[in-house]
Amino acid sequence: MISAQVVHKTYIDGETQVHALRGIDLNIGEAEFLAIAGPSGSGKSTLLNIIGCIDTPDSGEVQIDGELVTGRKTRDLVEIRRAKIGFVFQNFNLIPVLTAYENVAMSLALLGLREAEIRERSMTMLAEVGLQGMEDRRPSRLSGGQQQRVAVARALVKEPLIVLADEPTANLDSETGEDVLKLMLELNSRLGTTFVFSTHDQMVMEYARRLCLLHDGLIVSDEHRSA
Ligand SMILES: Nc1ncnc2c1ncn2[C@@H]1O[C@H](COP(=O)(O)OP(=O)(O)O)[C@@H](O)[C@H]1O
Ligand SMILES: [Mg+2]
Repeated sequence: MISAQVVHKTYIDGETQVHALRGIDLNIGEAEFLAIAGPSGSGKSTLLNIIGCIDTPDSGEVQIDGELVTGRKTRDLVEIRRAKIGFVFQNFNLIPVLTAYENVAMSLALLGLREAEIRERSMTMLAEVGLQGMEDRRPSRLSGGQQQRVAVARALVKEPLIVLADEPTANLDSETGEDVLKLMLELNSRLGTTFVFSTHDQMVMEYARRLCLLHDGLIVSDEHRSA
């Protein structure tokens, strides 16, 4: 489903160079529920952004669903991302002037679906994440946990092959964080969606079926657990 081979990424920040990824090899199969853990600065966000076609590596190859994405034009990457990947950001990244419903519906509108189908799927998805009755609220009138649920609904409504979530529980209290995680696990088993999280939250690591530890831009351990 996802394959990264010898992926390197260096950021140049003024005079200094930061070698954020130093040769990542990672293969992720269908319907995996995988957490990438590691201390702050270890390269988790960089890796997710590269897998998610938001950023590009300096060298190495990335394939998504059997398709080589490295070296492709930005326009192609946007297309691949829209069709196959749902992204959940740490700070939710909802559009403040849009309602919960509109934030979710937009990701289907971008796929060119018809209005009736957009409405049906968005309302169903919002109900699934427990936001029935709150569809017309803007993010400012939702709690952090509710906003993260909107973000999860937005990522999942298009039923992507892959959901990438960058520290999805970092801004949530532990109970709300666990609710969001259970929801993702449920969707993983029901829809077979591949989930990849970055985290340094112990609770998220416990839910993961596979745990990769990242340290200074390298995967230092990769552990599969039984369900
Ligand atoms: N846009 C950027 N410009 C310069 N340095 C960056 C940039 N993004 C990330 N870095 C650096 O790359 C390293 C890895 O960052 P990141 O992938 O955000 O790690 P994590 O998500 O694990 O905290 C850090 O040292 C960080 O400071
Ligand atoms: Mg990060």
